[in-house]
Amino acid sequence: MSRVWDQRYRTEAYAYGTAPNDFLASIADQIPRGPVLCVGEGEGRNAVFLAERGHAVTAIDWSPVGLAKAEQLAASRGVHLETVCADLAEVPFAPSAWSGIVEIFVHLPAPVRTALHEGVKKGLRPGGVLVVESYTPKQLEHGTGGPTDPELLPTIEDLRRELSGLDYVIAREIERDIHEGVLHDGWSAVAQVLARKPA
Ligand SMILES: C[S@@+](CC[C@H](N)C(=O)[O-])C[C@H]1O[C@@H](n2cnc3c(N)ncnc32)[C@H](O)[C@@H]1O
Repeated sequence: MSRVWDQRYRTEAYAYGTAPNDFLASIADQIPRGPVLCVGEGEGRNAVFLAERGHAVTAIDWSPVGLAKAEQLAASRGVHLETVCADLAEVPFAPSAWSGIVEIFVHLPAPVRTALHEGVKKGLRPGGVLVVESYTPKQLEHGTGGPTDPELLPTIEDLRRELSGLDYVIAREIERDIHEGVLHDGWSAVAQVLARKPA
């Protein structure tokens, strides 16, 4: 599967643009100072944005082509990223390591997503936050981006269940206009979560 993403990223253009995700940008000041992990980070637009804000950022993705472009983007902006090429199904989480974990449009099979969220809860520091934006099943009516397999599209109830134990600052399904590269373009149905690990 990572080959599909490599193929997608093997163009000069950035598939999701070089600007950060709108939701992440709107809540970035709520991520405490300290290290941030961006999972399924692709070509690095969110990781670079957070590095520019002063965070030490690690970006994980299983596409080496995407991560090479992330490093290129970081260099062009004068910041540094740690990049890790790995399958999110196999990534171990050290306890209380991260001030923030960012998961933007990472659509995983439910068992992999559930296990990842267990890791996220372990990996956040007390007071650290998780930021998620993800297409929901309603997005299939819009067809403006994201997977076509409903199993990869969580509802907000799925996310709330998997992330129980965190305190929700934002946990909602909304529809919004998205223009984040050629692949995410138009009126869209998304779930958004900003959740804090209790101190
Ligand atoms: C839609 S892109 C989003 C990229 C980035 N988060 C953004 O917002 O620009 C989804 C990313 O998740 C990565 N991904 C999907 N499944 C993965 C897995 N099991 N392990 C690691 N990365 C994965 C893909 O390679 C891809 O880069």
